[in-house]
Parts: sequence; C-alpha cells; structure tokens
Amino acid sequence: MSVGRSERWIPAAAVLLLAIVLATGCAASVKKEKKETVRIGVTLYDQYDTFISELMNCFSEQVQEKQNSLGVMISLEVMDAAGSQSTQNDQVKTLIEKGCDVICVNLVDRTEPTTITDMAEKAGVPIIFFNRELVAEDLERWDRLYYVGADAFQSGTMQGELAAAAFQSLKGADKNGDGICQYVVLEGEPGHQDATVRTELSTQALIDQGLELEKLGYAIANWNRAQAQTKFAQTLTQYKDRIELVLANNDDMALGAIDALKAAGISREDWPIIVGIDGTAVGLAAVENKEMYGTIYNDKEGQAEAMMNLASALALGESLDDLKIKDGHYIRLDYKTITAVGEASDSGDFLVTR
Ligand code: BGC
Repeated sequence: MSVGRSERWIPAAAVLLLAIVLATGCAASVKKEKKETVRIGVTLYDQYDTFISELMNCFSEQVQEKQNSLGVMISLEVMDAAGSQSTQNDQVKTLIEKGCDVICVNLVDRTEPTTITDMAEKAGVPIIFFNRELVAEDLERWDRLYYVGADAFQSGTMQGELAAAAFQSLKGADKNGDGICQYVVLEGEPGHQDATVRTELSTQALIDQGLELEKLGYAIANWNRAQAQTKFAQTLTQYKDRIELVLANNDDMALGAIDALKAAGISREDWPIIVGIDGTAVGLAAVENKEMYGTIYNDKEGQAEAMMNLASALALGESLDDLKIKDGHYIRLDYKTITAVGEASDSGDFLVTR
C-alpha cells in the first residue's frame, strides 16, 4: 500500500510539534519565568493613627529598597478603611480583583477576619495581618495567613519596670510621701490586644518591683491624643496634684495628658511621671525635652522590614526559611526601653536601656 502525501506529512508535523512542546516545557522547568512586577495591597484601620502612619512611611521606604535590591518593580496600593470593617472587606475584594500578589491587612475589628480570609483563600492570595492581632484560631485557618507585630505582654512589663525605676529614683516622685504610688491609666481602644495587656502587665510589673499602688483614675482614650487630653483634664480637676504617675498605653495618649497639664497651667515640677509606648517622632521629642520620662519603642522599622521581606518572598514564591516565622504564622519584633540620656544632658541622644 502506498503512503499518500498527507499521511507522510502528519507524522512529520507531529514530531515537530512534540519537539516544540518538549523544548518550551523543558525551558520552563529549568528557568522559572521572572516576575517583573510584584503587586502589594495594603488596607489600614485608620490612616491618621500616628503609629500606623509612621509604620507605613517605613514600609514605603522598604518598598524602594526592595525594588533596588531585587531589580523588580513593586507596585504598592494603600487604602484606608477609616474604622469600618465592611469597608475594609470591600477593599480586600478590590485588591484581589486588581491582581495583588499579597495583601497586608491592619484589621479594623480583630475579631472579624473571616470574610477577608475566606476571600483570600478562595483567590489563593496570601494575607499578612499586622499590628492588630487576630486570635490564633483565625490565623491558623489557612497556612498562607501571617501576622507581623510586637508582643503586647513585653511592652506592658517593660513600661511598668521603667515607671517603677522612675518612681523609686526620682526625687519628689512620691509627692505626698505616703510611700504609695498614686497613678492614672490612659487606655487604648477596647478589645485591642495591646490595650488591656499593656495596662495589666505594667501595673503587675510595678507591684513586682515592690511598689504599693493606688489607682486614682482610669480612662479609655482610644489611642487618641485629643481624647486623652479631655479625659485627663477631668481627672486633673478631680485629683489635682495627687497624681504621681501616668501610665499611657501609647505615646499619643501620654502627650494628651501633657497637653492637659499645660492647659491647666500646672507648673512643670508638679507634673506626675508620665510614661508612654511607641517612640513616635512626637513621643521621642517629648522624652528628649523631659516632658515624658520615657517610652517603650515599638519597632516600626523592624516591623516594616519583616512585612516587606515576607510580602516579596510570598509574591515571588521564594523560600520563607530565613524569615524567623514562628509556629508557621508569626513574626514578632522586640520592644526597647527609651529614656533621655542622663538627667542633665541636652544632647538629644537616647539611651536604650534594654
Ligand atoms: C500602638 C498604638 C496604635 C495602635 C493601632 C498600637 O500597637 O501602640 O499607638 O494606635 O497600635 O492599632
């Protein structure tokens, strides 16, 4: 039987096709296509929060550095949920639709991450939660959910130890000389992991350092300077010069207390000891000029860097082995205690005491 022209052509074409498939297939397995652009989406609980806006400035710097070091274009889109969880859910949906490789979420309501995690898992887009910590069970629902932040327990204990050292060493700290530390707490947002834990642990540390305590006042000021000023002004009216220590859950609220002391015309030597947490630019300035005794530095640079390293590794499909991820989900940065250098120094440097 003779072989027709078209029948001879078919095996030749098949061989050619197979060669092409093998060649391209081989190339793909040897050299993975390099991603040219990494898309990172971010949604913030409130872009006007002092600490969060400083953290985001650090993150933007990290984006620049990473672009330079990796030679990859990084497109960053930042959205503000302005305190609404449903707005944030919509933003995550939009960021997924826009093709983000990874999304960083500063949750509005840390008890409500499910809508976001369900959408992300369905779309296969990893999520890095930061600063506002969700409960472990929620984070463990999918292996591509992460949390970057600091340890609230550590900050509370360090603040209490700092305050105890100040109360025990500063002349006239015990204003009425009764051997008891009369104090006021300015607390952050209810339900935030950092608020309750900082309050509890800082007072516990004061007790552990041997101080006897009397709580004069307690006010929730939602991390906010203006609210803290208003609330502390009321406490001042009630207790006048009896307050010996102000434990503020963050620097902004410590600054609110300072604003109230100034507005009430109370002279500087009659101010209570004031301690904050964060080490924001305004907070550090207040430590430097000795209005605030000290603060506990919330390492925004470290957190921004950890977020960036994790985001780029996830987006590029690289190994996460060097990122110090604990329990498969967590990266935590340490706090540092900060006071001004020496009582007489005006150098503007800071002494990291721990
Ligand atoms: C910071 C606060 C900030 C809050 C926002 C805390 O860790 O200390 O200053 O307002 O996070 O979630």
